[in-house]
Amino acid sequence: MDWEAFSTLHDGLDREGPGCADDVRWAVGMAGTHGEARVLDAGCGPGADTETLAHELPEAWIDAVDLHAPFAAATAARCSRFGPRVKAWQGDMAKVAGPYDLIWCAGAMYFLGVTEGLGAFRGMLTRAGRVAFSEPVLLSDKEPPEVHAFWSDYPQITDRAGVEDRIAAAGYRTLGTRLVIGAPWEAYYAPLERRIADLRSAGPSSALDAALKREEAEIAAWRAAPDRIAYLLSVVEPA
Ligand SMILES: C[S@@+](CC[C@H](N)C(=O)[O-])C[C@H]1O[C@@H](n2cnc3c(N)ncnc32)[C@H](O)[C@@H]1O
Repeated sequence: MDWEAFSTLHDGLDREGPGCADDVRWAVGMAGTHGEARVLDAGCGPGADTETLAHELPEAWIDAVDLHAPFAAATAARCSRFGPRVKAWQGDMAKVAGPYDLIWCAGAMYFLGVTEGLGAFRGMLTRAGRVAFSEPVLLSDKEPPEVHAFWSDYPQITDRAGVEDRIAAAGYRTLGTRLVIGAPWEAYYAPLERRIADLRSAGPSSALDAALKREEAEIAAWRAAPDRIAYLLSVVEPA
């Protein structure tokens, strides 16, 4: 990974993965999170969902953590208007003390693995704590080649039953699920496409050109099957 090219391409984007405010609202409702809850946005990226959590839960204490320091800084800056009840820092989401009533983890659980990540989060939850996370999912066992091509870098992908198996293997049960498909992906890729076009017109270095080509290929692969490429958003609790 050329970090300078990555930063040029990604820093300043609204979000770093598919999702939307309605996903956050749905998960908060499904988890029953309210009042002065303690919430962690694990793998917060530039903080789009941290901001929604802070807005939707006006009395909650919200922490946000990301391995990539510029994302943690962007989250801290965009949430500064909420004052001390929202904190963001650079760190490993598997090693935060907690305890939390809700851990929100959008498009980041696959870095740890579902079973491993839920295992790490277990010690970071309150007694009634819940986890909401999104995970790549195959919608059927007969997906077209375009879908498999899109997910070729993630051979661990399964169907819904496979996600459920990995949740159960971590000793959790599922309270509710919903698909992240279509518009939430456009919300991530459309601004990225505009950034790519701007950088192309400015004449990129060879390192940046290679990064642009990788992102262009990913977006083209998504555009080949946007109604079949999905995350499964699950709200779960220790069984
Ligand atoms: C696909 S992005 C999603 C970001 C954000 N949740 C969003 O939806 O905009 C995944 C994020 O997880 C972060 N990440 C990966 N492994 C992590 C870890 N162990 N601890 C904290 N952050 C991590 C990456 O730096 C990246 O910002």
